[in-house]
Amino acid sequence: MSRPCHAQIDLQALRDNYRLACELAPAAQAVAVVKANAYGHGAIEAAKALEPLAPVLGVACIEEAQELRAAGIIKPILLLEGIFSADEVNIASRENFFLMVENLEQIEAIIQAEVEHPLHCWLKVDTGMHRLGLLPEQVDGALAILKASNNVQADIIMASHFASADELDNPSNAEQLRCFDELIDECEQAQGLAQSLANSATILANPNAHRQWLRPGFMLYGASPFTIDNDNAAKLKPVMSLLSEVISLRPIQAGERVGYGGKWQAERDSIIATIACGYGDGYPRHAPNGTPVLIDGQEAPLVGRVSMDMITVDVTDIPDVQLGSRAEMWGKALCVNRVAEYANTIGYELLTRMPARPTRVYSS
Ligand SMILES: Cc1ncc(COP(=O)(O)O)c(C=O)c1O
Repeated sequence: MSRPCHAQIDLQALRDNYRLACELAPAAQAVAVVKANAYGHGAIEAAKALEPLAPVLGVACIEEAQELRAAGIIKPILLLEGIFSADEVNIASRENFFLMVENLEQIEAIIQAEVEHPLHCWLKVDTGMHRLGLLPEQVDGALAILKASNNVQADIIMASHFASADELDNPSNAEQLRCFDELIDECEQAQGLAQSLANSATILANPNAHRQWLRPGFMLYGASPFTIDNDNAAKLKPVMSLLSEVISLRPIQAGERVGYGGKWQAERDSIIATIACGYGDGYPRHAPNGTPVLIDGQEAPLVGRVSMDMITVDVTDIPDVQLGSRAEMWGKALCVNRVAEYANTIGYELLTRMPARPTRVYSS
């Protein structure tokens, strides 16, 4: 028998989550964001599952887009950070990669290139996140230059990104939206252009900012971007389940210690189950004692340090645990966000940092 640790990926859930994004904003179209190996789920498989539904796929950089093309994906692919060097403009034109345009240097590279086909450009405006994007006062001039260039299609899209979309009562959301809307009102060149502002949190909770193009990422993978309850997020279906099995069971006596450094000490006679899944499989090394693990569907606490290949769980209170009992580290029955909270991180990080080691087993 091979090592039982694997990640089950439910592609039907992925498609359902994409459909939910579309249903929440029926007047909009949605770029399916599959960057960073589709948040750890496998970019090619995720893109193939979403391609029949999504008019455009989204990735961070040209290498990610080329990987999808090489795998036979033919839909347009938006490069969410745009180009990193001038030579990428030609590749983007040839391969039908849409470009997020983040700064004046990228604009210069686009208009100077000799391209086969004019490019689809999304002009990113920095409305307050101060990470990427043109300053509002640069936008009118930038649009004039892009529109005058034969290298650029006329259907430029005005885009921005919220810094705190997951914090529903954070006033910066309204401030960024006001900045964007005022800019559009005042900018003659921007009149009539489609707009794109909404990541997952905005799609789920801020219909004012849906506009014409959504950019859902994390929600596609079935977890909520919020730390509080949200009715729409409750409809999401988890896509990845990180699963394994009990590979060892042993009784220990009160006072005995478990794992590297003996960091957990039994207060009572206990039964310890060892699970074949560790930080080499994407389980967070900093998950503390008490982090929930599902053994045969029942919650049991992690005890002792997370090893590279294994974790140890106190199953004293769970009847009938056996060698081969099913262990779920996160997934359909245990939300990845819950594990992330114990490990002092976010579900985004746990999913995206999933290494290649656990085989992805896809069901469609
Ligand atoms: C520009 C842009 N749009 C959309 C997304 C998707 O965001 P989320 O995963 O929160 O839906 C990201 C992710 O970081 C992004 O950088």
